[in-house]
Amino acid sequence: MNDIDKNPWRADFPIFDTEMNGKPLVYLDTASSAQKPRAVIEKMTALMNSGYSNVHRGLYKISQELSEKFEQTRSKIKEFLNIPEGYDVIFTRNSTEAINLVAQSYGGAFLQAEDEILLTEMEHHANIVPWHFLRERQGAVLRFAPITQEGALDLAGLAALLSPQTRIVSLVHVSNALGTVNPVEEVIRLVRRFNPDIKILIDGSQAVVHGSVDLSSLRSDFYVFTGHKLYGPSGVGVLIARHDLLEAMPPYQGGGDMIETVHQEVVTYKPAPHKFEAGTPAILEVIGLGAAIDYVSSLDRAAVFVHERALLSYATEQIKLIDGIKIYGQAPEKAGIISFITEWAHGADIAMILDQCGVAVRVGHHCCMPLMQRYGLEGTVRASFGLYNTKNDIDRLMEGLQKAKRLLE
Ligand code: ALA
Repeated sequence: MNDIDKNPWRADFPIFDTEMNGKPLVYLDTASSAQKPRAVIEKMTALMNSGYSNVHRGLYKISQELSEKFEQTRSKIKEFLNIPEGYDVIFTRNSTEAINLVAQSYGGAFLQAEDEILLTEMEHHANIVPWHFLRERQGAVLRFAPITQEGALDLAGLAALLSPQTRIVSLVHVSNALGTVNPVEEVIRLVRRFNPDIKILIDGSQAVVHGSVDLSSLRSDFYVFTGHKLYGPSGVGVLIARHDLLEAMPPYQGGGDMIETVHQEVVTYKPAPHKFEAGTPAILEVIGLGAAIDYVSSLDRAAVFVHERALLSYATEQIKLIDGIKIYGQAPEKAGIISFITEWAHGADIAMILDQCGVAVRVGHHCCMPLMQRYGLEGTVRASFGLYNTKNDIDRLMEGLQKAKRLLE
């Protein structure tokens, strides 16, 4: 096993010099939002101190320079995810907005009543609710591919739900609640074999963090992710989409920066991606995301992957040693996320005791109510790992859980 005591990356994150409730912080909520490395913090601070302006609008030097830095993030994302020719990178507010953009623009224009959208039982609300809007407003029909009791996607079940009415298949790459890594390549092959006209969206919010994603080999029609889980700032997300589809899609929001001309009678739009970026964008956040990508790319990603897997297997072994705990999500392919319930206490009470011990976890339905309903649960306690976690963090989680058991059982 990799030596998970040693962590060469933790010192890059200043927050670990701080305490929570008088104890050194143990941060096990990275699936919710990751901590930020100094490289991101310093980049954004430096720009505010000495290089800030709006972008795409000023003919003066600092605006030109900042616009260039802003656009460099688009190129960094293309390289980071190996995005093929023919795809555009659009900046949004987060993954949620990216999916809403596709649902409202593509779905709004091209879906009719009775058209089917196939999701899975493990989707985040961000990949359910925007499609419900199409059900409510246009009569689209939502289908949910089943998962197994272990939390793996049931591929045969998914295939059985494809029909001549299926127009969109939209699924998560890595489940935020279970940690399941979905075989998205296989899903894409299966769907394309059934009907190559079905549009496929992959929600990569957790996936881009935990492994290398290669969009040249994946080639889904749409792929989304968010900055704040990738050690970047909140307020910026990304939609990667086929340029030909974007050209056919109407704009999602109107305003400055997305138009070519505006008259009292008529308006014309810039080509994609700019057609989908109305208004002043999240300037510092986009550049901060570029810094986060530089940071992550500078690491030995294979070593990070091994480290996170070692944390996951150590935490899984340790949690199983405590009586009356059940882990949900035991698919063969998993990222660093563990969800569990106990026989002896409510999750919120456990989380409160962990908080007093300086340990941050998330408790609840994790924005996945249909998944919780699938298991007959109200929610789970979830510990999720980032590249900065150590064996000591897991030992502190175990101490907190033992304390919670003593107090609450
Ligand atoms: N999607 C985030 C989570 O899983 C907010 O906690």
